[in-house]
Amino acid sequence: MALAPAYDEPSNPPVHVAIIMDGNGRWAKARGLPRFAGHQRGAEAVREAVEGASSLGIRYLTLYAFSSENWKRPETEVNDLMGLLRVYVNRELADLHRNDVRLRFIGDHAALPSDIQNLITGAQDRTRDNSGLNLVIALNYGGHNEIVNACRELASEVKAGRIEPGEIDELAFAAHLSTNGIPDPDLLIRTSGEQRLSNFLPWQLAYSELAFVDTLWPDFTQEHLAKAVADFQKRERRYGATTA
Ligand code: FPP
Repeated sequence: MALAPAYDEPSNPPVHVAIIMDGNGRWAKARGLPRFAGHQRGAEAVREAVEGASSLGIRYLTLYAFSSENWKRPETEVNDLMGLLRVYVNRELADLHRNDVRLRFIGDHAALPSDIQNLITGAQDRTRDNSGLNLVIALNYGGHNEIVNACRELASEVKAGRIEPGEIDELAFAAHLSTNGIPDPDLLIRTSGEQRLSNFLPWQLAYSELAFVDTLWPDFTQEHLAKAVADFQKRERRYGATTA
């Protein structure tokens, strides 16, 4: 998508905030609880983030719920995370719809349990015409895989004679990513003090501002989101240009 921000007043909120929700396990461990308890509280924090984003006027909120590398976790934990997603969508969908939220899922969904694939399709279809917050949930998402898939699709287009290699530019490339139609994130937040991207939106985050906050995800509140947004608004984004 376009690299220039869709806002020009410093008082305006970021259009798109992406979050790596990290620290559920450590939150549970610090309390002598099973990891599942951390993920459960993490799902509650998702509700906080959605409400916070809506009230701050953020247009797109993308959450990293399950990476393509998360299959390496013990089977019980993978099942717990899938179970929480089922609960979240089943429990929150009516409320999200009432609040005009549009749900969209990105990632490779073919490997997900079939009932979750149906939940995703149903939630996307039901909220398709909503015009409030766009809530994007990255599920079985991996950025490298997304880029490789885009290359495959473009290679097929070239092979079929539909486009010339020279016609492939950044816009044409981005149109083959799962985020097609979604502006690039202005701000990435990662909780729990870790400072890495973990294969999350590597193309789309090229010009994003990065905020690494020490709070563990289950403790992340609307106030933490508002502070990250306020800090973002003090930053000067130059997109490679010099200062004014
Ligand atoms: C990272 O914490 C978090 C995850 C891998 C999963 C995030 C999932 C949720 C917040 C709950 C379900 C989501 C939705 C959208 C309903 P970690 O387990 O890696 O924590 P650690 O680094 O402290 O071990």
